[in-house]
Amino acid sequence: MGNTNNVERNVKKRNNNGSVVVHRVKEKPPGLTDEQKKLLRNVWHGLKEDIEKVGVITFMRLFETHPEVHDAFLPFRSLSMSDMEQSAILRSHALRVMAMVDKGISRLDNPEKFFIVMEELGTRHTNYNATEEYIDLMGEQFIHALKPHLTDQWSEAHEKAFSDLFHIMAYYMKRGMEKREDNVKRFS
Ligand code: HEM
Repeated sequence: MGNTNNVERNVKKRNNNGSVVVHRVKEKPPGLTDEQKKLLRNVWHGLKEDIEKVGVITFMRLFETHPEVHDAFLPFRSLSMSDMEQSAILRSHALRVMAMVDKGISRLDNPEKFFIVMEELGTRHTNYNATEEYIDLMGEQFIHALKPHLTDQWSEAHEKAFSDLFHIMAYYMKRGMEKREDNVKRFS
């Protein structure tokens, strides 16, 4: 698995009617190195008990820094939820996100199925009010939430490995989101 999901390039294609259109194409992130895979596995293994906290803090920070994500997330269920209901839903989503990170780390050597799962998850997220921009915000918040749990071990290599992992996850989710948009355009 690899890095840099935000690199975009313009690709010129000719339409059926002969006119040239420019498509924005996201570059596929390169794979993670063996060193990065080893680092991710080691760290993640030692973190099992803190994962829930990391997930919840990731989302709390995301909602604090980007209230628009909070506003998009909650109305998906109902605007009239109690605070307790809201926090239970946020917690359960944070756990689901962490379960996907766990899945990604357990399949580092054999990621093809994981990529398909992430793509399908991205497609479903277009029904959950999530946007590509929101998906791109996750990695930074996750790293921020993770750091305090690894104070002694944390290094630039850790930051880079987790950032690359999130870039890969985001790349496939966004690909799924774009596929959904293409289908909507084609049939509308
Ligand atoms: C790395 C990023 C994310 C991952 C891995 C992720 C993962 C998941 C998973 C596994 C589910 C369970 C339902 C399903 O499988 O379709 C889910 C549901 C959902 N996600 Fe995400 N998600 C991410 C980011 C976001 C963001 C940024 C939003 C903001 C709007 C969001 C909003 C929702 C909503 C509203 C649901 C349905 C309600 C729920 O099940 O709690 N997700 N997500």
